[in-house]
Amino acid sequence: MKDKKLKKVDLIFENVECNAYEVLENTLKRDPDEIILDIIDSGLKGRGGAGFPTGLKWKFTKNEDSAVKYVICNADEGEPGTFKDREILSRVPLKIFVGMAICGYAIGAKEGFLYLRGEYNFLLKELNVILNDFNARIKSMGFDFTVSIKSGSGAYICGEESALFESMEGKRGEPRNKPPYPTVSGYNGKPTVINNVETLCHVTMISRLGAKQFKDMGTTDSRGSKVFSVSGDTPIAGIYELELGMTVQEFVDEFGDGDTKSVQVGGASGHCVPRKNFKDTIIGFEGIPTGGSMMLFNSSRSMYNVLHDYLEFFAEESCGQCTPCRVGCQQLLKGVEAVKRKERPPQYLDDLKKLAGTMKLASKCGLGQSVANPFISIVDNFREEMIY
Ligand SMILES: Cc1cc2nc3c(=O)[nH]c(=O)nc-3n(C[C@H](O)[C@H](O)[C@H](O)COP(=O)(O)O)c2cc1C
Repeated sequence: MKDKKLKKVDLIFENVECNAYEVLENTLKRDPDEIILDIIDSGLKGRGGAGFPTGLKWKFTKNEDSAVKYVICNADEGEPGTFKDREILSRVPLKIFVGMAICGYAIGAKEGFLYLRGEYNFLLKELNVILNDFNARIKSMGFDFTVSIKSGSGAYICGEESALFESMEGKRGEPRNKPPYPTVSGYNGKPTVINNVETLCHVTMISRLGAKQFKDMGTTDSRGSKVFSVSGDTPIAGIYELELGMTVQEFVDEFGDGDTKSVQVGGASGHCVPRKNFKDTIIGFEGIPTGGSMMLFNSSRSMYNVLHDYLEFFAEESCGQCTPCRVGCQQLLKGVEAVKRKERPPQYLDDLKKLAGTMKLASKCGLGQSVANPFISIVDNFREEMIY
């Protein structure tokens, strides 16, 4: 295990003026393939949760033979405990739009959309003012590219990329079968790059500072920095940009209240790390990856209540399209309630763990597939709290 101390970084929200338009103008003078190679070289992986290498996603989309391609920024941010994209959208939106334009130029797209979480519609007016100026400025640079905003309506599932495309097309937000992947057939059936808000900001910063500066931060598997939403039992809840590769212990030493018993890494759909594993667990792609949510729980918390809240959320938000997820979420919720009420023996938790494992294998999309993460990690580490 690499012994790496937690380091605060200030790139995404940097105080130093980042002239995003200058970055764009300079990038538009470069060869698109070179830009993609730079993003590949930086080691940037998607910040929306799944961690797919950004440069490769762009390369696959560029290589598709199609006159129409799209760039989409995923600003749905529905994962419980995650609020970093809201801050980025509020404070440095131009870095997002520039990242989208760089992507559009690199892959050969003329149109980009920002899919904005319905609950963030309060940002719409201001974002549109910035966009009007932005769209005019890129035209004046001689690049034919326009960005506009589409509003979501508050469904967690619409953050899943293919459900997001359905929603944008005016249909019910349900995930599609994959393959084909978005790089081949995304929005309107055309090759599409979809990236998280933060990923696109890193693109702007990589274009400004070079791939090396990004690559020099973090670890081999987890390059660069990451914006974290820190909440729960912490005296300093908020948004922090940190170098990747720290252990949960280092994180807790900085953000805990001295009584942290567990950290939920990656939001409700992430993993619960108990105190005994803090030192051995790396926050990053080689350990526990996270879209950015870190929820700290101290000994005043009932982990049964934590799990119950998560399961209620998933049961409510399952789109209902596939049986493992639709029925599984309900059964896990009813199951833990039955054990708690002593209507079922404690061993029933093992049957429920098997069900969660089946959901991981058989669900159609990441929603049903990831319910096993909180379920198994909380039940395994806090079994006694599920029973009494
Ligand atoms: C249920 C579900 C919800 C998701 N919600 C979001 C979201 O709100 N924002 C996001 O960027 N990615 C979300 N994702 C991941 C996207 O499907 C996709 O991987 C991501 O937008 C790709 O961008 P990236 O490569 O920059 O991370 C979600 C996935 C699932 C399964």
